[in-house]
Amino acid sequence: MLKPNKLINKNFLSSLDMTYEEVNHILELAKNFKNKSLETDFKDKVLGLIFDKSSTRTRVSFQVAMSRLGGTTIDLNPNTSQIGRGEPIKDTARVLSRYCDVLAIRTFNQSEIEEYAKWSSKPVINALTDIEHPCQALADFMTIKEEFGDFEKVVLTFIGDGNNVANSLILCGALLGVEVRIACPRGYEPNPVVIDKANSVSKKNNFLRITNDPYSAVSGANVLYTDVWSSMGEENKMEDKDKDFKGFTIDSDLVEKANKDAIVLHCLPAYRSKEITDEVIDSKSSRIFDQAENRLHAQQALLFYLLS
Ligand code: CP
Ligand code: NVA
Repeated sequence: MLKPNKLINKNFLSSLDMTYEEVNHILELAKNFKNKSLETDFKDKVLGLIFDKSSTRTRVSFQVAMSRLGGTTIDLNPNTSQIGRGEPIKDTARVLSRYCDVLAIRTFNQSEIEEYAKWSSKPVINALTDIEHPCQALADFMTIKEEFGDFEKVVLTFIGDGNNVANSLILCGALLGVEVRIACPRGYEPNPVVIDKANSVSKKNNFLRITNDPYSAVSGANVLYTDVWSSMGEENKMEDKDKDFKGFTIDSDLVEKANKDAIVLHCLPAYRSKEITDEVIDSKSSRIFDQAENRLHAQQALLFYLLS
């Protein structure tokens, strides 16, 4: 398979670190890995994982992806390494990148992951920050492509907090030419810098609509997407946010108002009965568990691309 012409940015810190061609290339590779039609042997390659926040899907899918590529993973627990003691990122990054071939990092501030990338001699992958979750977006658009074949007529409506997951959907959606709508309570709109960046790369006029009305946002949509109302690090805001997000649950009634062929996505983990009902997660419209599986294939493709 040919690589796209433009070389990838060494790091994947944001959805916009890839070009349109690169995202499509990764999605194609991911499809091949899913079909088991691509063999690799990255015997001596090592992925280092640094997770300052909890994770099930991202951590395990990275570990399995690396193992399927023939390589190995080291999961650095910040509490049992010197990271939790506060060793400067610039020292940690310089040392770890002499041992590992690629690093995947989950942390709070985007500036921390940028600091890792600045000092690491090997590629750094954003495994979630407060501002973006670009690996999630790759799996999400892979799932959407599996369902609809291409992105041309896709209308993606995200209902919930204008957070990291929504930001990466907006940025990757802008690259891929998907119409994106965000329905959130007033005050929970996505980051304005992200919106500006997305508008600057989008070739579609009015590709993005932000509204406080979930019902108008789902009309004509073929993908409904949600995420938790309170993200990791916001546990103390949960009571207030639960009140603010009343009326923003994806339930059967809301799904009924979307296109007949609409599918439902959620990055997981979910609070069943808050942002989404049990009935919808387990309904025939749900592709949530295919989406979770696709984390593995998309990240295997990403690692393959960065390490080849
Ligand atoms: N969707 C996602 O990133 O899940 P984890 O927090 O379990 O990694
Ligand atoms: N917005 C959520 C996503 C979890 C995968 C969080 O940051 O906790």
